[in-house]
Amino acid sequence: MRAIVLLCLLEVALAKPDFTWGGNTDNGGGAGPNEGNVCVTDQATCGCCLMQQQIHRMKEFFNMSLSELEKELMKTKTVLNNVRASRSAFSVALSNDDTLKCIGPFRDDRIIMYKHVFINLGGGYNVNTGIFTVPRSGVYSLALTVYSDAGSPGNTLAACGSLMVNNKVVAGPSEKNMQDQEDSATIVVALHLKAGDKVAVNLPIGCFLCDNSSHYNTFTGFLLYSTD
Ligand SMILES: *[C@@H]1O[C@H](CO)[C@@H](O)[C@H](O)[C@H]1NC(C)=O
Ligand SMILES: *[C@@H]1O[C@H](CO)[C@@H](O)[C@H](O)[C@H]1NC(C)=O
Repeated sequence: MRAIVLLCLLEVALAKPDFTWGGNTDNGGGAGPNEGNVCVTDQATCGCCLMQQQIHRMKEFFNMSLSELEKELMKTKTVLNNVRASRSAFSVALSNDDTLKCIGPFRDDRIIMYKHVFINLGGGYNVNTGIFTVPRSGVYSLALTVYSDAGSPGNTLAACGSLMVNNKVVAGPSEKNMQDQEDSATIVVALHLKAGDKVAVNLPIGCFLCDNSSHYNTFTGFLLYSTD
């Protein structure tokens, strides 16, 4: 957009000489009457003078455009720095063990502590609490996958969890049945979160999740764009 405006202005600036460089008394075009008089007496000086005038105008024009562009560049740099400073992305898995281990079922709800960290850009996820503290207000993408293994077919299976924001359930993927040995469920949501909000995954009563280094259980969130 700016480039187009610049080009149009440039065209105007470059087109002007056509109207003023006539050296003709009858139609001075954009030139003032004095210029016209000079042109009668000394055409060479007149042409030179007008040319200098045009050069001066163009210098002013480019100088103005340049300072405008410099201002825009500064603004853009500031925005870019803000975007860089607010980078936030975490992705974690339940464990990284070789053998499949399960957590739960418990007699009460528990916050799941995902111990294996793929990425924690911005440091918002706390590996000791399992809680992601929103560093900056904005729209976040959050994803949760739960997986469980009953050990053998016919055993109770309860692969479930609840994605929580400030202790309120956002979504609760759940797979419970007696038919097969393994189950998995996934949710992905985009939410507008405020700086300081707490995002975590709750393990409801009776649910249990199993994982090894295959990382069947993952919890992921990242900032799409900030709104502050
Ligand atoms: C360009 O503009 C700046 C102010 O924006 C001024 O200080 C400078 O002297 C100008 N340069 C020319 C060549 O006109
Ligand atoms: C994790 O456990 C599952 C189920 O027991 C098994 O099939 C898989 O090979 C294991 N993954 C690794 C990396 O050992």
